[in-house]
Amino acid sequence: MDNKFEFLRERLAEAKLGGGQDRIVKQHKKGKLTARERVHFLLDEDSFEEIGALVTHRSTDFGMDKQIVLGDGVVTGYGTINGRLVYVFAQDFTVFGGSLSETHAEKICKVMDLAVQNGAPLIGLNDSGGARIQEGVSSLGGYADIFYRNVQTSGVVPQISAIMGPCAGGAVYSPAMTDFIIMVENTSYMFVTGPNVVKTVTNEEVTSEELGGASTHASRSGVTHLTAINDIDCIEKIKRLLSYLPQNCEDRVPLLPYEPGEEYREDLDTIVPENANQPYDIKDVIAGIVDTDSFFEIKEQFAENIVVGFARLGGRSIGIVANQPMSLAGVLDVNSSKKGARFVRFCDCFNIPLLVLEDVPGFLPGTDQEWNAIITNGAKLLYAFSEATVPRVTVITRKAYGGAYDVMNSKHIGADMNFAWPSAEIAVMGAKGASEIIFKKEIDEADDPAAKLAEKEQEYADTFANPYRAAARGFIDEVILPRETRRKLIKAFAMLENKAVQGPKRKHGNIPL
Ligand code: HXC
Repeated sequence: MDNKFEFLRERLAEAKLGGGQDRIVKQHKKGKLTARERVHFLLDEDSFEEIGALVTHRSTDFGMDKQIVLGDGVVTGYGTINGRLVYVFAQDFTVFGGSLSETHAEKICKVMDLAVQNGAPLIGLNDSGGARIQEGVSSLGGYADIFYRNVQTSGVVPQISAIMGPCAGGAVYSPAMTDFIIMVENTSYMFVTGPNVVKTVTNEEVTSEELGGASTHASRSGVTHLTAINDIDCIEKIKRLLSYLPQNCEDRVPLLPYEPGEEYREDLDTIVPENANQPYDIKDVIAGIVDTDSFFEIKEQFAENIVVGFARLGGRSIGIVANQPMSLAGVLDVNSSKKGARFVRFCDCFNIPLLVLEDVPGFLPGTDQEWNAIITNGAKLLYAFSEATVPRVTVITRKAYGGAYDVMNSKHIGADMNFAWPSAEIAVMGAKGASEIIFKKEIDEADDPAAKLAEKEQEYADTFANPYRAAARGFIDEVILPRETRRKLIKAFAMLENKAVQGPKRKHGNIPL
């Protein structure tokens, strides 16, 4: 029996070495941790249980039958993060470049199935040269098996993808269908076709980093939700993100301990400037409302005119969607609508209540916006809010103009509680534009058209540039002082805790994609 035990010990030690010491050193030299090191730092100490360490590929072409590495380039299993169960796979670049074979895919599919059946998040640490070239269609099929599961898993348990090395070709579509992507700066990239193909087809010269590095996808394409300065930072961000999420769609995020105290925040009273055209930072408002240092921003560098992220409010995990007056005056455009809609839908999947902070002058005009389908894309945000059944609360801090008033979680599309600050202006459009249209004749015929316009502008502003018309109609539940906002919101979300909505019977809706 001793021999048999020894045989097993040797096999497991061999599996742990992956592609061998030389390749591990090479991995470290690139500034990357190995798959096993990543899993080690991600999970609670001693919590990892590996599945499939002895799996080998079945390929025989191109001499592959003589190249067998236990585990076949991916470490899979389960463990805990802060005591909560998660499933994980980590591609091992030291083994055939982390490339995906039929069996490598089967290992990933196994933990995906377990994650769904047992209701716990799935975390993928991607670092791979793509489809195992020696396997042909078997590896393509393996990818498709994963893609299919990504979709079946969507909305059941949270799926998080860390990109910690290459991720190219069709391989990008697995992370793309998960809920969150985190890319490591300088060591990771994602693209459908690499620089060489780009050069051949379009004659453009571009580096991997420019084409699909972390900063490109954080600021230009919006593909990645978060970036990290290195592997450890990436792992820390995964853990932080998970702390705001439930285990699955039937679970709720654990409440953090919270002692109700003095909840007035007088600093909030002075953030919105007197001059309605002067910007202010909506993140100051967020910081003034939520629990100290609890705001965790998502897609920070993309479509900065809308701010989305998670926070704690009185210990409760919430999602925040906020217009940002500091960027493009907080208008809604194609990118901000898409960013907002995706975030709203995520929160709705996973029972995370939504707080909307609204200061929006309307939709961005222009050919660029119209030709890039602001109609379809703006509709995404409208659709996402309208279909969301989680508790939804809005605070209008200043402007709520035009269609954007309706879109930004108005009462009419199912918001539960709508507050406005005294500085709120809720109208079809700004006073100047409105006066120029409806008083055009009067202004044109006046002895002093400029003075007439100013007079009419004031008249329109006095009538509509306030929250009281909307409050009189019940579209605003309460006009509150900024300092009261935190207290009001804590109570509102507690009141809405058991909200239950039964939608009409249907297969699924048809969001304008
Ligand atoms: C088999 C692969 C591999 C692959 C890398 N390797 N990619 N083996 N299949 N796809 C092997 C290499 O042969 C090498 O083996 C080892 O992994 C490390 O690779 P290096 O090239 O030395 O590493 P590096 O210089 O860091 O370059 C990494 C790389 C490069 C840029 C990813 O390896 C590369 O271009 N690989 C091919 C990428 C590719 O075209 N993949 C197919 C994409 S199509 P040795 O033994 O020499 O150490 C695809 C379709 C998916 O993925 C479709 C889904 C629908």
